[in-house]
Amino acid sequence: MVWIRLLLFLLVFYLVKANEMTRSCAQCVSGDFLYRRHLMQDSSVGMSMGWVNEWKETNCAKGNIRLVSCNHACVKITLVKLPKEEDNSVEGIMMDCSDDLIHASPDLPKGIDFKAYDENATFTSRRRNFSITYTFSMDSTDDAVKIKEDHSEIILPYYKEDYQPGTIGVYIFFFILFSSFIVGGAVCCFKFQKDEKDRRKYLEETDLELQEPHEDEAEKMSDGAAPGISLASPDQEEKIIEM
Ligand SMILES: *[C@@H]1O[C@H](CO)[C@@H](O)[C@H](O)[C@H]1NC(C)=O
Ligand SMILES: *[C@@H]1O[C@H](CO)[C@@H](O)[C@H](O)[C@H]1NC(C)=O
Repeated sequence: MVWIRLLLFLLVFYLVKANEMTRSCAQCVSGDFLYRRHLMQDSSVGMSMGWVNEWKETNCAKGNIRLVSCNHACVKITLVKLPKEEDNSVEGIMMDCSDDLIHASPDLPKGIDFKAYDENATFTSRRRNFSITYTFSMDSTDDAVKIKEDHSEIILPYYKEDYQPGTIGVYIFFFILFSSFIVGGAVCCFKFQKDEKDRRKYLEETDLELQEPHEDEAEKMSDGAAPGISLASPDQEEKIIEM
């Protein structure tokens, strides 16, 4: 029975160990990080990192994050445009799992593999008038509420976010739609008014005949002619009355 206990112990040990090794990292961007791709993938200075498609659907500032499990540290990159406009102004932030993300960077110390980094550490560098900070954390950073709170102090360039080309396109679309409604409405009302006038004229012309008594109404119906139509043409009516 000793070997069963040993096996169980080993199983528990490995489960605990595996649990320790993986952490859950938030995956999100905020501000204008996505517009700084040239800064973060600048091969001319030896900067090479992955670019993740899923970032597009996230927003750290709104707590709209994805969760990714990670074998190594979680990483957060903060971009600040220099000179700073305000103390808390931040150009963009990105958070993700650091596994296999940063292949080479002039901002980070040489000789360390940041694709598999297992330390709590912060590095700051200045490049192209941006202050770039890399924060590696061995803690899980998956608390959406906390991430949102962390963002409440900083000033992001929202103006650009609100007027992305896509948004402008939507505005133009609605503007065109709205104007075509107005133009269409005007044309339609003008036409309706004209129709109404014609109809009134028509009614005035037929009014007299409408007032005349028609004994043979049923007979006309059986002939297949609607009373309204027969009233409209006095000639036809005369014929019917003659019969
Ligand atoms: C990183 O920091 C956390 C606390 O924030 C600590 O629990 C953990 O042991 C640290 N890890 C390393 C590798 O220093
Ligand atoms: C960086 O900012 C300074 C002013 O603070 C400016 O003179 C310089 O042209 C800027 N450099 C780049 C690469 O934008």
